[in-house]
Amino acid sequence: MKTIQVKSLKGNYKICIGRGLLGQVGAQVAGVFKPGTKLMIVSQKNLAPYLKVISSSLFQKGFKVYTHMLPDGEIAKSGAELFRLSYDLLTKGFERRDGIVAVGGGVVSDLAGFAASVYLRGIRYVNIATTLLAQVDSAIGGKTAIDLKEGKNLMGSFWPPALVISDVNVLRSLPQRELCASLGEVVKYGVIRDPALFGFLEKNFKKILQKDLRMIEKVVLAGAKIKAGVVSRDEFETQGERAILNYGHTFAHGIEGVLSYKGLVHGEAVAIGMMMAAQLAADLGLCSQELPWRQMRLLISMKLPVSIKKFNLKASAILKTMMTDKKKNKGALHFVMPWRIGKVTVEKNIPIENVRKILRFAGAK
Ligand SMILES: NC(=O)c1ccc[n+]([C@@H]2O[C@H](COP(=O)([O-])OP(=O)(O)OC[C@H]3O[C@@H](n4cnc5c(N)ncnc54)[C@H](O)[C@@H]3O)[C@@H](O)[C@H]2O)c1
Ligand SMILES: [Zn+2]
Repeated sequence: MKTIQVKSLKGNYKICIGRGLLGQVGAQVAGVFKPGTKLMIVSQKNLAPYLKVISSSLFQKGFKVYTHMLPDGEIAKSGAELFRLSYDLLTKGFERRDGIVAVGGGVVSDLAGFAASVYLRGIRYVNIATTLLAQVDSAIGGKTAIDLKEGKNLMGSFWPPALVISDVNVLRSLPQRELCASLGEVVKYGVIRDPALFGFLEKNFKKILQKDLRMIEKVVLAGAKIKAGVVSRDEFETQGERAILNYGHTFAHGIEGVLSYKGLVHGEAVAIGMMMAAQLAADLGLCSQELPWRQMRLLISMKLPVSIKKFNLKASAILKTMMTDKKKNKGALHFVMPWRIGKVTVEKNIPIENVRKILRFAGAK
């Protein structure tokens, strides 16, 4: 097992990465919660095969274990589910010293983490990350959220977990499309920070897609290390550094919004968004044309989409959604622009004409 430390003003925490860690969950959790405390496992039916081993491992260490199941999909990140979980905690007598163990991907930890941040003004929680996206991204950094009908992640908090456990073996049962979509975010890490990771993905994508867990473990370690470093230095996105994690996301959020979050999963929208951002950077002369091409080859080899042609979307509609995205600052669009693989900057004054041109280039009308 490898560990990575994350710094947080609300308490530093550890990420455990390895294979076959579920049986040791109790021992790890005993490092952050006192035996005898109540723990609510929050999860989804797809994770049911893993819950028995997790709860018996916790039970053996003397915890009082309860289970709360969320529906599948983004719909779980709702006010209704937040209240349902809060009432479940309340009726089971959860107090401040008790905690939540989120077992799942980003949906479970976003909802469970937000509930943890507001129940009794805040209780602690552990993330057991079960998607590749969660292991390299969403389980780390303490951003929690629910969606409102007006948009995604509009209510939330910075509430770091007390511990993150990423057992790479559970990725075996992850649907192939989810694996590929998560790889979109890993490609992002390569472009923003890590040329060696980018090269590793180029060399080993076949084995990764075939779920060679040794390769995937390396990817998880590299990705988690980057995310942990960025959020340790810029926990609340105030220093500018955390913003580079939004590479490809300004475009992706625009596309996802216009599609009402249907037709593409997030990592796929990010792949398209990164294509647009890289081409925009090449058009502006910030990077060579080779960069978007090289990135496109890698994304295609990972079975990720790189164009929006088939959706028949209007460039003006995407642009409008991009402007209303919560990450806009004082009405100006921000773009994370690559200069070379491993180096990006946040650029603010990009001419809107160039942005429109890129949207059309990628298949918008
Ligand atoms: N908080 C953050 O920093 C952050 C960062 C990125 C994304 N997010 C959020 O994360 C969410 C997406 O998360 P996700 O991509 O992990 O998707 P997800 O949580 O919806 O999981 C995808 C699907 O896979 C299933 N699943 C999970 N693990 C499995 C496994 N091991 N075997 C079989 N099935 C499994 C889930 O039940 C679900 O159906 C979005 O809501 C996004 O906004 C949050
Ligand atoms: Zn993302």
